[in-house]
Amino acid sequence: MKIIFATGNKNKMVEVRAILSGISEDIVSMKEAGIDVDIVEDGTTFEENAMIKAKAIAKIAKDAIVLADDSGLEVDYINKEPGIYSSRYMGEDTPYSVKNQAIIDRLKDAKEQQRTARFVCAIAAVVPQKDGSSKEHVVRGTFEGLIAHEPAGENGFGYDPIFYVPEYQCTSSEMTPEQKNNMSHRGKALRMMKEILEKEKALD
Ligand code: IMP
Repeated sequence: MKIIFATGNKNKMVEVRAILSGISEDIVSMKEAGIDVDIVEDGTTFEENAMIKAKAIAKIAKDAIVLADDSGLEVDYINKEPGIYSSRYMGEDTPYSVKNQAIIDRLKDAKEQQRTARFVCAIAAVVPQKDGSSKEHVVRGTFEGLIAHEPAGENGFGYDPIFYVPEYQCTSSEMTPEQKNNMSHRGKALRMMKEILEKEKALD
């Protein structure tokens, strides 16, 4: 069965195809499926927002499994901000160099053990059933780290330059894409979703 992943982001699609190949030969982005809708993400959790997106697309795309994700950075010292507002933090158009420095500044009085943070990714699925109904699933993957004292690295995107990964003793922006995908929030959530979809397939 066709899988539509609700994103316009090409890098995400590469990761999604790599992890979900084996479940379906036909994995397309929303754009490739010819779907263009504005969805209001007004949920209060990553899971709710991912499900809002998946359901909105599933209404349009009837005979496909629809997957959607929602992700962000939680910084413990500042009450898990920016959280679900990660892309909107300080304004959508504010460069990440500015957002990242602002987070470092807000942690200036934090002790080392108070610098904990995590990337979170929720993935929601709407799976059409033979009787015309649909099943919903949602999973969460997390990637634990610390907020660095200064930005470092050229890879990745968003908050990667300030996300220090103790296991690698560098930021996620200094890791190779393969290293990051292996332990990332999105990689973990995708692998969990793959298991769920494989079980559904076995019941087919
Ligand atoms: P979205 O789920 O694509 O809307 O991502 C939300 C926001 O979370 C992104 O715009 C980034 O600011 C942040 N984010 C999510 N995952 C990552 C990551 O792997 N690295 C850096 N920033 C991330």
